[in-house]
Amino acid sequence: MAIYFDEQNKVINLQTPDTSYIIGIYDDKLPVHIHYGKRLEKTYGIFEMLDVPAEHANTCDVVSKDFSDGITLNTKLLELPTYGTGDYRMPAFHAQYEDGSTITKLYYTGHKIYDGKPGLENMPSSYVEDDSEAQTLELYLKDELTGLKAVLCYTVYNDRNVITRSNWFVNEGKAPVYLQRVYSGCIDFDSKEFDFVHFYGAWARERTMQRTPLINGLQSVDSSRGASSHHHNPFVCLASHHATEDTGDVYGMNLVYSGSFESGVYVDTYNKTRFFTGINPFDFEWKLDCGEMFRTPECVMVYSDEGFGKMSRTYHEFVRERICRGKYRDLERPVLINNWEATRFDFTEDKIVAIATKAKEMGVELMVLDDGWFGCRNDDFTSLGDWFPDPAKLPEGLGGMIERINALGMKFGLWFEPEMISEKSRLYEKHPDWCLHVKGRSRSEGRNQLILDYSREDVCDYIIDILSDIFEKNNIEYIKWDMNRNMTEIGSAVLPADRQRETAHRYMIGLYRVLGTLKKRFPHILMEGCSGGGGRFDLGMFCYFDQFWTSDDSDAVERQYIQTGTSYGYPTMVMGAHVSACPNHQTGRMTDITTRGHVALGGQFGYELDLATLSEEELKEVKHQIAICKEFNTVFHKGDMYRIKSPFESDMTVWEFVSKDQSTAIVEIFTLKGTPDSASESIVLKGLDPTAVYVERYSGRKYSGEALMYIGLKRTRPRDFRSELLILERE
Ligand code: DGJ
Repeated sequence: MAIYFDEQNKVINLQTPDTSYIIGIYDDKLPVHIHYGKRLEKTYGIFEMLDVPAEHANTCDVVSKDFSDGITLNTKLLELPTYGTGDYRMPAFHAQYEDGSTITKLYYTGHKIYDGKPGLENMPSSYVEDDSEAQTLELYLKDELTGLKAVLCYTVYNDRNVITRSNWFVNEGKAPVYLQRVYSGCIDFDSKEFDFVHFYGAWARERTMQRTPLINGLQSVDSSRGASSHHHNPFVCLASHHATEDTGDVYGMNLVYSGSFESGVYVDTYNKTRFFTGINPFDFEWKLDCGEMFRTPECVMVYSDEGFGKMSRTYHEFVRERICRGKYRDLERPVLINNWEATRFDFTEDKIVAIATKAKEMGVELMVLDDGWFGCRNDDFTSLGDWFPDPAKLPEGLGGMIERINALGMKFGLWFEPEMISEKSRLYEKHPDWCLHVKGRSRSEGRNQLILDYSREDVCDYIIDILSDIFEKNNIEYIKWDMNRNMTEIGSAVLPADRQRETAHRYMIGLYRVLGTLKKRFPHILMEGCSGGGGRFDLGMFCYFDQFWTSDDSDAVERQYIQTGTSYGYPTMVMGAHVSACPNHQTGRMTDITTRGHVALGGQFGYELDLATLSEEELKEVKHQIAICKEFNTVFHKGDMYRIKSPFESDMTVWEFVSKDQSTAIVEIFTLKGTPDSASESIVLKGLDPTAVYVERYSGRKYSGEALMYIGLKRTRPRDFRSELLILERE
């Protein structure tokens, strides 16, 4: 059992193998938060420890009349803080009622504990394969005056240190309710002795780690772009000040959502900390009609008492096994080559076949044809929406192209950007109102394109039909689903005025329906997501996409930062990483083929160049890289990852991947900045079997597991951008 209800004390203890999340029902009415952290077996007396009686309240505090002994909500740790009743911190819920008032009093009416985990209807969520894997608590609350009912839904996995939460709201009243702030996760802490850790960026420099001590006030990251975005990732952490990779308390929160979000932390002047995530309340409103239900996206919480490393590995396993799904979840992916950086829009069928032929010779298994194959798309000004092959480039159509690729013994993959529409397209001529827009306003363009209004059912159905038709008629075994601009003039031609602020969220619901339908209809297609690189790299996407293009920056040095930052919340299995040409297209930097290969091996491996342009020696290295990828895919993708050295903290990056049975470890050592005549640095490994002897494949040297973990390897770093890959195998 994972969830215990102590009836006498009105305490609910949600237990994972190492953690407890404890909720108390104060005065039979108010769900208060008691503890999230190390696992507790017994809950006796726990309530009294946190109770703040009215006589201890501060002068400025307001005492609520709703409870038998009078309490001040301002300093209580709350499970679903609402607005207007004495808690002056940032609420997790805010709504407006028919009479114009915005006060909510949601009090406990009961609860249910059951095996398994419910789905969220039109929202993606994590799952169980068997009900015995997890238990769920539904906590029922009601606002008697308005009839609003809330269900706080927590699922606890028995064998994983993961707790998920989603909040559901049901209008059981007699008039519509306007939901304005509906966070998914909210954890109150009694102190502010934490750092806030988040991952910011921009196009081609996604997920830069930033760590700052909490201040009294608000610290948050968000997106109002209609996508989770390059700029901030919904994944955030709270870490004790001295937390390292291996020590200290770290709390992670991530959101299974791909739209506008807000994740952050609010510390009041009593040093109470409120950690939250959810749909961005800015420019959001949802009209909940009588009888209707609204479910928030799910948030995924992980607590680690052994620093960032354990937290990340918990997320890695969870994302791989209970967020990702479908045929490819447990399969190794083919090594692919993508033509984008080799040709951009300028290609012919023969050119693509030539790229594929050389790649096949090297051992590549999948040829991906990127942007430019449809309509008359020779630049990015035109044709999005016209999903039929351009006869000038593909004279025999998709069928002819695919036949030639398949004849080489390769799979074929194709690029799409199905959420977009170019003003210069047949689709736009026919349906100028199918894009997001506000009547009477000009339509801002990003990359010369507009966004289809996926909040509309007819638009979504059209996309499902047109893509289904292509997939049914052609042997396409992989798709790259791109999305290259963020929303502006967010409005829908089919929604009434009082529902316009639902558009962006309805768009996500529509997108999830399209993706879910296609994934179900075409389970054999490997789906890679992309958003100008990693602009929508979030758990919502990983419920549909098997992997995601991590960044448009394919430079081996920049990628060390991007992939390290990404690895805090996401596993290597989902991070698309390709070897590309030098000088690098984004940075102009020169790095050798070995370093580029080693970086890409630390993700979902592939190529993004014309291999025919490489020297014989480089091609030998390419063959070697593919052999390593094929032999050790399971270690890179399903093993445990250790960040031995982080580029955010040193001039070196060291990633270590250890197989689950500890028989194999791969260590990748990168120099970011060479320092001639430098003293050696220790590379102290982790996660090995201390009693084992490991043989390094290339040098034949033997090391004991304990020496590798307690003394470490020594390395100097004389030259910029060099790398080394060690394969340690148990003797
Ligand atoms: C942006 C993607 O990130 C690139 O990989 C490429 O597919 C281009 N779009 C094509 O337009």
